[in-house]
Amino acid sequence: MSIKYESQKIAQYFYTFAVVLFLVQVLVGLIAAVQFMRPDIFILNFNIVKTLHINALVVWLLVGMMGATYYVIPEESETELWSLPLAKMQFWATVIAITAVVLGYIWQGLDPQANKLIAGTLALNEGRKYIEAPRWADFLIVVSVLLFLLNCFMTVMKTRKWTGIQGTLLTGLTFLAVMYLPGMVYFKSMVRDQFFWWWVVHLWVEGAWEIIAGALLAFMLMKVTDVKREVVEKWMYIEVGLVMFTGILGTGHHYYWIGTPSYWLWIGGVFSSLEPVPLLVMVWDAFRTTRETRVVDNKPGLYYTVSHAIFNFVGAGLWGVIHTLPQVNKWTHGTQITTAHGHLAFYGAYVLLVLSMIYVTLPAIRGVKSFNHSRALQSFWWMTISMVFIVLVTTGAGMVQVYMERLMGLDYVAVKTTYNLWFWILRAIFGVGFLIGVAIFVIDFFKLGREPLTVAKVATERA
Ligand code: HEM
Ligand code: HEM
Ligand SMILES: [Fe+2]
Repeated sequence: MSIKYESQKIAQYFYTFAVVLFLVQVLVGLIAAVQFMRPDIFILNFNIVKTLHINALVVWLLVGMMGATYYVIPEESETELWSLPLAKMQFWATVIAITAVVLGYIWQGLDPQANKLIAGTLALNEGRKYIEAPRWADFLIVVSVLLFLLNCFMTVMKTRKWTGIQGTLLTGLTFLAVMYLPGMVYFKSMVRDQFFWWWVVHLWVEGAWEIIAGALLAFMLMKVTDVKREVVEKWMYIEVGLVMFTGILGTGHHYYWIGTPSYWLWIGGVFSSLEPVPLLVMVWDAFRTTRETRVVDNKPGLYYTVSHAIFNFVGAGLWGVIHTLPQVNKWTHGTQITTAHGHLAFYGAYVLLVLSMIYVTLPAIRGVKSFNHSRALQSFWWMTISMVFIVLVTTGAGMVQVYMERLMGLDYVAVKTTYNLWFWILRAIFGVGFLIGVAIFVIDFFKLGREPLTVAKVATERA
């Protein structure tokens, strides 16, 4: 395996930054989990630790998707990237901006007064969950994304080879970029503010990002098996069409209790209940394609791709649909049930997506045909089993929380500190398991293709 175009190597820059942030994200996630039992264990308080945890998550996934796209576009367009220096500059600008934002959150944690109002905007943290970056950073992010899109579009224009995969990928990325904008506007009314904040959060993960996932899934299936392009593209169109049909109006499942008109109860309930359908089609697509191909060289690539499809359906689809009807959400809204779903959905749909793209493309970037598969599979099992337990434990905590707090009327803090305690202990233990999996993955990422392979290892992998 080797790359066809030299500029595809740029993907590795983005992957490396993504992988480092992934490690940071999980480390601080574990600290956050311990803070449920020992709130003052760390120099930064829970609010800042959680901000770091979820913002690092969103950012490393975006950076990983950018890297993956820089790999896919030259290959599909059959030409070098329009401008490699521009891609490199855009990479370093992104690293600097993100590092500055992270340092800003830490600074705010050490000195809350430092988050001053400057020219009508907060200097360090805007305070909107998942997209807390301050306004100056928003502009830098927008510029970076525009340069990235420009580079991709100009590459396609060089040969005008608009394959279905890259057309869909770039549509998803453009949708993603446009949907960042509503998150940059403040509204005095909390109802309006929440209304548009959800355009970013929901229309990203259940719209734009799923479109990108559909395109990358098609690409990966084509790479790891020898399925025909026409077949994967046909299914990709069906998946993406259904994602848009269900996901856009599915935004209504966030409009039940924020002060918006009551018709959203119906719209949100009906459309979001249908959201698992395209995700199920993706699982079927992955299984059908895989079953037809017997000999696969890149087993980790295949493993991660199929698992991504499965856990996208389980985490987003199943763990989403259980609390999406207003009749249920009325009780579960904003509890640990939501947290459980947030973890499994992000893990299945996007963490595994970026990791599968890494395993599908990195061997080619490093110019190796065979590599040691065992670490990739070990890290997969450590991470996946631990995540499943973290999710089961938080779902249990959420059920206790709903019952005691909302049905029995016990105090919110009392339930969290006393009745949920054992769930927190278990979550922290499984968190350690997850961290072990990430550590193995990070080692594998840096070593893949760079260590001598023993003959015995190659032989067992071929068997
Ligand atoms: C990959 C796709 C998805 C991701 C990454 C995702 C992630 C999340 C996250 C992080 C939250 C918590 C937001 C907050 O901080 O308040 C959330 C909320 C929610 N999600 Fe998803 N989700 C996905 C797909 C779905 C699907 C397909 C459904 C329905 C079938 C769904 C139903 C819900 C509902 C109802 C809530 C609101 C929970 C509440 O009221 O507290 N999600 N989602
Ligand atoms: C790749 C893996 C992970 C993903 C995708 C992820 C994702 C998320 C998301 C989306 C949230 C916000 C959910 C909400 O507020 O409802 C969150 C919060 C949190 N995460 Fe993670 N996380 C991961 C790993 C971990 C690990 C390993 C731990 C440690 C046990 C952890 C502990 C926490 C804690 C304690 C919170 C705060 C929950 C709360 O406010 O109730 N996370 N994570
Ligand atoms: Fe949603």
